[in-house]
Amino acid sequence: MAYETLIVETRGNVGLVTLNRPQALNALNSTVLKELKEAYAAFHADETVGAIVLTGSERAFAAGADIKEMQPLEFADIYKSDFISGWEEVAKARKPVIAAVSGFALGGGCELAMMCDFIIASETAKFGQPEITLGVIPGMGGSQRLTRAVGKAKAMDLILTGRMMDAAEAERSGLVSRVVAPERLLDEAFAAAEKIASLSRPSVMMAKEAVNRAFETTLEEGLRFERRLFHSLFATDDQKEGMAAFVEKRKPAFTHR
Ligand code: HXC
Repeated sequence: MAYETLIVETRGNVGLVTLNRPQALNALNSTVLKELKEAYAAFHADETVGAIVLTGSERAFAAGADIKEMQPLEFADIYKSDFISGWEEVAKARKPVIAAVSGFALGGGCELAMMCDFIIASETAKFGQPEITLGVIPGMGGSQRLTRAVGKAKAMDLILTGRMMDAAEAERSGLVSRVVAPERLLDEAFAAAEKIASLSRPSVMMAKEAVNRAFETTLEEGLRFERRLFHSLFATDDQKEGMAAFVEKRKPAFTHR
């Protein structure tokens, strides 16, 4: 399929989506959203794909929602159309998604990175929620996901001042899982994605569900949810294979069933 704002490719068992609006620092407009949903749907339908890497350019992962597209909007219209709600579908991707972030990840760009399962950042990455400087607030989950990721103090600092934080601060704060040299970014993200794609899909998808549940429920409910998922994995061929392979000192051959 031809995309206008994305480059979409499959490398081995990994799907790669590159945001591609260089003239606007990958600002997220309605076409990006529509195409990202299509790309994710295609990867989900493709049995060979076990993980997805989402990236931008060296200069910008994404500099936010498209301000020029938002500028003329009126309350009644965006309320009635529930503007932004479509991004929740992107956040609900069931296969693991790794954000590989270089340069600006601002506003909706930072929020899109946080919709991914984890973020690997280049040393050049800059994260921020500058919406307050435009007279608005984060709208794609920033006030919620950033606060859960870095805690109230840092989230308030970033969201109320609109300042950017660099990759080192983002790693110290727990927003990103790893920081690597710019030239290593895609290789590092790919290696992680390939590792994930080589594992049993049901266990990977359930692990993702279980961790995400930690953000939505009480500890007691979360523990019960995890335990039930754990039990259910004993109904898979891959649990039999994974444990047999360990005992027999060989590599497992997962069938993702
Ligand atoms: C539309 C954008 C854009 C954006 C950059 N551009 N960010 N267009 N929406 N979010 C465009 C610029 O207008 C410019 O186009 C081109 O990209 C290059 O940007 P420059 O500003 O010339 O580059 P630079 O001087 O290097 O500054 C980089 C920057 C700055 C610091 C990232 O562009 C910036 O502050 N951008 C806006 C960041 C922001 O406020 N994001 C939050 C958006 S609100 P031209 O045509 O002039 O060359 C948001 C809400 C999310 O995200 C929730 C609701 C959906």
